Amino acid sequence: MTASANPIQQSFERVAERCEDLTPLVYHRLFREHPEAQAMFRSERGELVKGSMLALTIEAILDFAGDRRGSFRLIECEAASHDAYGTPRELFVAFFGVIAATLREVLGIDWSREIDAAWQKLLVELNDVIVQPQAQMRWRWPKA
Ligand code: HEM
Repeated sequence: MTASANPIQQSFERVAERCEDLTPLVYHRLFREHPEAQAMFRSERGELVKGSMLALTIEAILDFAGDRRGSFRLIECEAASHDAYGTPRELFVAFFGVIAATLREVLGIDWSREIDAAWQKLLVELNDVIVQPQAQMRWRWPKA
């Protein structure tokens, strides 16, 4: 695989070279930092959902941080459907931070300054599309 120029992509590529499956690491961290999330995956499909949710989230992150061809739209759609699952927006957005922290942990000293800066920026942008719109979109009566 040729090394990618996009630092977010690069972070996932470097991790893939040393970790076959991020799923247990990500959810271990998620449940440690946000124990309330564990109860949300107790259904029969819980284990299946964890793997596919992470895979789809990573695909959406790569598109969001890349050329935005389509998968990035999953983020806003899922934020809305997760409202119905009872996942608060703050927790939803926290999942992205958990992914970033897991990558940083796996990469150790290979977590470069460039990768760090790109993730910081990305997390702010994700926060803006997920948390802010709810407040902005609240419908109000027009002023008379
Ligand atoms: C900590 C935050 C999150 C929690 C607690 C959470 C929880 C859940 C739960 C409980 C389901 C299963 C719903 C069902 O029974 O059908 C689910 C499904 C899903 N979630 Fe999340 N979610 C979180 C964050 C995210 C994020 C950030 C994304 C991506 C933008 C995402 C994408 C999805 C997708 C695509 C599914 C459907 C997976 C499938 O059925 O194959 N989730 N989530």
